[in-house]
Order: sequence, then C-alpha cells, then structure tokens
Amino acid sequence: MGRVSGKVALVTGAASGIGRASAEVLAREGATVVLTDVQAGEEAAAGIRAAGGKASFHKHDVTRESRWGEIIAGVEREHGRLDVLVNNAGIAVAGLVTDLTLEQWRHQMAVNVDGVFLGVKWALPLMRNSGGGSIINISSIAGLRGAAGLSAYCASKGSVRLFTKSVALECAAARDGVRCNSVHPGIIETPIWGQVVPGSNEPLDLDAMSAVRVPLGRKGMPTDIANAVLFLASDDSSYMTGEEMVVDGGMTVGNPQ
Ligand SMILES: NC(=O)c1ccc[n+]([C@@H]2O[C@H](COP(=O)([O-])OP(=O)(O)OC[C@H]3O[C@@H](n4cnc5c(N)ncnc54)[C@H](O)[C@@H]3O)[C@@H](O)[C@H]2O)c1
Repeated sequence: MGRVSGKVALVTGAASGIGRASAEVLAREGATVVLTDVQAGEEAAAGIRAAGGKASFHKHDVTRESRWGEIIAGVEREHGRLDVLVNNAGIAVAGLVTDLTLEQWRHQMAVNVDGVFLGVKWALPLMRNSGGGSIINISSIAGLRGAAGLSAYCASKGSVRLFTKSVALECAAARDGVRCNSVHPGIIETPIWGQVVPGSNEPLDLDAMSAVRVPLGRKGMPTDIANAVLFLASDDSSYMTGEEMVVDGGMTVGNPQ
C-alpha cells in the first residue's frame, strides 16, 4: 500500500518542475492523479502511466473560473471524489517596483493569487462531499520575507500564506475534515528561474547562489518539495492545518555566513 493509496489528487502547473514531481510522487504512492497546466502536459501524465501509475492531463489556465468549473466537474464524473488539491501553478514577475506596470502586477496576482483562490473555491465542495481532504498551496520563502526586484512575487506569495491559514480555520470550524497548509520552497532547480532575472537573458547559476545563501550548501530539487507535498497529502499529517512548511535548506532560519 502506498502512502496515498485510494486518494484522488489534482495538481495544477503539473507539466513542469515542482508540480510534475509532486504528481509523480503522489502517483508512485498510490494516488490517482489529475494533472493540469496551461502548457502541454500529456507527456508528464503518460510518463506516470508508463511507470504503472494512474494519471490524466487536462489543459487548464488557473486564472479562468469557468475552466475550474469544468475541471472539477470532470474529476467528479471520472473519479467520484477529490481528496488532495495541490495549488502549484505559478509565475515569477521580476522587476523594480518603479518599473513594474500595473498590467504585470495584475498578471502576477492573477496566476499566483486568483488561481489559488479559485482552486480552493471550486475544489472545496467536492472535497467536502468526499468526506474531507488536504489542500496544499505552494507559496515560497518569498512569502515569508521580502526580496528586492521581486515585490510583486513576494506580495503574491505572502497572500497565499495568509489565505491558506484563513481557509484552514474556515474548514476547521465547519468540521469538514479538510486541512489546508502552505509549502514554502527555497531555491529549487526548475525552469521558473529563467523568469526572475530582470533585464538579463543569462540563466542564474543556482549552484553558486546556493553555495553562498543556503546553509545546507546546495540547491533543492523538485522531489525535495514533492516529498513535503506527499506528507501533507497523506494521513501522516492529519493533525496539521494552517501550517507553513518551509523546505529551504535552512535559508530562512538565519544567515549562513
Ligand atoms: N523553483 C523554485 O525555486 C521555487 C521556489 C519557491 C516557490 N516556487 C513555486 O513553486 C511553484 C511551481 O514552480 P516551479 O518552480 O516548478 O516552476 P515551473 O515554471 O517549472 O512550473 C510552473 C508551472 O506552472 C504553469 N503555469 C503558469 N501559469 C499558469 C496558469 N495561468 N495556469 C496553469 N498553469 C500555469 C507553467 O506552465 C509551469 O508548468 C510556483 O508556484 C512557484 O512560485 C518555486
């Protein structure tokens, strides 16, 4: 038996990086996984099926409310229940605050904040009908502290942090069996880092950056976050809600040097 056997999980932004790794780990541990992404992700779902897991992929822009309705209706039709929602889809809009346009700010908020809100709003009724569940919102250490050049991203991730706690309390008060926690990754090697250097096309050297900034001395990999997602999705974390799980090699604990 896997750690999430029998559960149905929906993972957004699952074509790449942390979302893809989370979908793979959840499937490996026995969940039926519905992967969604605004970009093509059939290959990720096919890879899971080839490894013996249960997975499907659906095109899904998390900022579109009507599409959320279709996705959740599809999960109910196909699987009859929803136990785990991983609100992972995200983008990083970089730029000094004086350079950011209102359009860029709103796009950042639309994907990282509206997307998480809509996910919770549309998934919660089905989760409640399923007898409970676990909502996992991917925030960031940028949701715990500021970062120059990333004000919009930090604002969006801080918003996810407190939204998570409020949803956790609403669910607890409703005694609906739904838990809601946030995960705060540090420096994880994924394509998102291509978005975060303002005015530069040079890829960041994550190894060099991590050697200096991360107490453990190395960058994280998507599976490091997927393993935290697995724990929060599983019944091993059944007494945790409203919690912020930091997975950052010690970055936010203190200054490495
Ligand atoms: N990589 C890191 O170091 C790091 C650190 C902290 C937090 N995070 C967070 O982890 C999450 C996953 O990011 P990642 O690092 O795997 O990056 P990634 O770019 O590899 O994955 C993000 C995925 O989200 C999808 N996406 C973007 N906009 C979308 C939309 N409107 N609707 C649906 N899907 C959309 C992308 O297509 C992509 O597949 C994000 O929320 C990110 O902010 C990442």
